[in-house]
Order: sequence, then structure tokens, then C-alpha cells
Amino acid sequence: AHSIVIAPSILACDFGRLHEEVRRAEAAGADWLHLDVMDGHFVDNISFGPAFVDFVAKVATVPLDVHLMVERPDHYFPRFVKSAANITVHVEAQHDVRKTLAGIREMGRTCGLSLRPATPFEAVVPYLDQIDLLLVMTVVPGFGGQPFMPEMLTKVQDARDRRERLGMKYRIEVDGGINEKTAAQTREAGADTFVAGTSVFAAPDMAEAMRKVRGV
Ligand code: DX5
Ligand code: ZN
Repeated sequence: AHSIVIAPSILACDFGRLHEEVRRAEAAGADWLHLDVMDGHFVDNISFGPAFVDFVAKVATVPLDVHLMVERPDHYFPRFVKSAANITVHVEAQHDVRKTLAGIREMGRTCGLSLRPATPFEAVVPYLDQIDLLLVMTVVPGFGGQPFMPEMLTKVQDARDRRERLGMKYRIEVDGGINEKTAAQTREAGADTFVAGTSVFAAPDMAEAMRKVRGV
């Protein structure tokens, strides 16, 4: 079983105080920092790119978990290798999934595969032998602050059950609307890695909010 990881999503932070926000999240107990790269094609929003991620890497002392919500992750992932510890791509994007995942590992980083709420678990099954992490979206990707979709709990359970049955090792990460309550539900279903944006960055006490997500 994997240790519990909390990965605050930088998308929810005050970009005007990015340096301090990174420090604040680390001091509050972040294990990783989650960086949501959006290209305006794969999702209906544009967030930030390689230069922003490189800046975060300069100030951060914890590993960066880069979530590429881009149409061509095969073309763009190399731009993040310098700064990312993990790079996650979407199964629905326009690329040869197997080739992209292998490429990320060849460049010495762990690789993750993510699926939108509307994408059935079966769509990622062919790639489970190739990934270090499965990112189950619990909101429609593109924006922070959206409500958690409880119907995703069965997908988390499927991911865990299949992993046990196939004797695989991938982490199960959940992302979107994760707070104390939904973290407990998804952990119960099999998640071990928790992205939290609004619930921790907007909290009056960030360390307490992270402890609540961690379930301690
Ligand atoms: C959404 C992103 C999520 C989002 C999480 O497309 O992938 O990581 O930033 O933010 P909250 O926790 O506020 O839902
Ligand atoms: Zn994300």
C-alpha cells in the first residue's frame, strides 16, 4: 500500500504572491505540489506553461506533480522534465498514449495517466502496466473550485480492485473538489494521493485543512 500524499494545487493559490504561497503550502505539510497546465484546447481554460512551472521548481523544496491538460502531451511533456518529478497525461488527448508514457519514463520521470469523469475506467486498462500513477478526475477538468462528483467513487474502487487483481503498483490520485469529507470517501474507495486546491488554499488554517484531507 502507498503512503498518503497530499498535493496542493497551485492553480488555487494567489499568483501575485506565488513564492510565499509555495512556502506556505510546504510549511503546512504538502508532500508534492500539483501543477495544472491547461492549453485552451483540451480544456476550456488556459492556466500556465513551462516558464511558470520552472519558476515554481526554483522555489519549491517538494516534488512537482505536473498535470498536463493539453491536446498534444507527446509534444509538450519534454518541456516539463527539468522541473517535474511526475508527469501525468490524459488518455483522451491526441497522442499515442503508450509512446508518451514510455517517453516520460525514458526521460527519468514517473508517468501518470488521467481520465475525465465521462471516460470509462476501461479506457485506461490497456495502459495500467505502464504507469506509476492513475489520476481519477473527480470534476470536469479546467477549473478549480468545482463540486466533487460522487459518482466517481466506483471508478476509484475499480482502479483499486483491478490493481490488486493484476498485482500492479500504481498510485491512485484523485483531483477535484477534494476536502476533508471527499478525501475520506475517496480514501475509503482506494485513493492514496490527494490533490486539493480550494479546500486548502482558501482555508483559514492551511495546515489544519491539510491534516483533515490526510485524515489525521
Ligand atoms: C482541474 C484541476 C484540479 C483543480 C483542483 O482541472 O486538474 O487540479 O485545480 O482544484 P479544487 O481542489 O479547487 O477542485
Ligand atoms: Zn489537476
